[in-house]
Amino acid sequence: MGAAMKPRPELLDRYELAGSEQVGFPIDWSRVFCREAPLAVEIGYGGGEYLCWWAQRRADWDFVGIELPQDCVLRAVPQFSAAGLDNVRLLRGDARYLLRELFSTASLDRVLMQFPMPWPKEKHAKHRVYSPEFATTLADVLRPGGEFELVTDQEWYARETEAVLGAAGPFSVVISETGPIRNFHTRYERRWEKLGRETYRVVVRLEKPAIAPRRILHEEMKVMHLSQSPDEATMRSLPGRRGGSNGIVYEVKEVFYGEGGWFLYLVASDDSFSQHYYVRIGHKKDGRVLMRIHGHPRPYYTPAVRFSLEDLAAHLSVGVRSA
Ligand SMILES: C[S@@+](CC[C@H](N)C(=O)[O-])C[C@H]1O[C@@H](n2cnc3c(N)ncnc32)[C@H](O)[C@@H]1O
Repeated sequence: MGAAMKPRPELLDRYELAGSEQVGFPIDWSRVFCREAPLAVEIGYGGGEYLCWWAQRRADWDFVGIELPQDCVLRAVPQFSAAGLDNVRLLRGDARYLLRELFSTASLDRVLMQFPMPWPKEKHAKHRVYSPEFATTLADVLRPGGEFELVTDQEWYARETEAVLGAAGPFSVVISETGPIRNFHTRYERRWEKLGRETYRVVVRLEKPAIAPRRILHEEMKVMHLSQSPDEATMRSLPGRRGGSNGIVYEVKEVFYGEGGWFLYLVASDDSFSQHYYVRIGHKKDGRVLMRIHGHPRPYYTPAVRFSLEDLAAHLSVGVRSA
């Protein structure tokens, strides 16, 4: 695949729900779409062809696509625009966590995942989408009777997803089939078909809802006041600095100086929910030295992100106070 052409900014604004638009968690999707309608999510929509087809066919439903790379957004948006769609939005990030954090209890009618990367090696198993935590998330965000559908070219992946969701108790398996008849074939589906691969489809229905605890904090992101400007040697020693406990951890990946201030590139994880972001240390005209999250997309404000700010501020400054 070649690089996608960048759509006009107003098209991105129309379809991508940027971090700055996400006010209040979980998101009130009826406000985003300006109507009450059944809501569906496609995890890993790839080029967006299926999502575009689905949203056109079900104009009475609203749709949210979740993908990791920005390139997928760039490919999908022109198709939505050409089709004149108003019932689809895109989120960028790891669906395992965005589903839990951005959708409220019993808000979803359907969650679809087609041809996920299987990550067959055991050492990569942590990247697979299905897990007991994902089952708990689905049991929360689906409405009772709502369904999760998986289509894959890997039989073992279909069987394990079925086993993990079945083992979690709240679901019943309503379809488990080989070679399903499908009205629209995704880009990867067409590719696998050419290679003569078989397709497997599993649909589970939520019978017994459960609550999945959320992580995003309901408070303002902290701006840290440092009592002094950190010296260069201290700043240069930061890469590799780690901190945290009890499933909360952060690490400084890089430090550089630019635009009159220091920038730190961090990764912070709440259990396995990892986020990368920048922190900037800058001087105000009145002499204050402030440290705050910088740039877009902003991380979701979780205990690990807050801890990273507090811990770094304490390390870089004596007598730190937070705004
Ligand atoms: C093999 S591609 C299939 C794309 C599309 N569904 C199709 O059938 O053409 C798998 C897609 O899943 C996305 N993906 C993998 N893990 C994901 C996750 N945790 N959250 C969101 N998207 C994910 C990848 O970025 C990739 O685009």
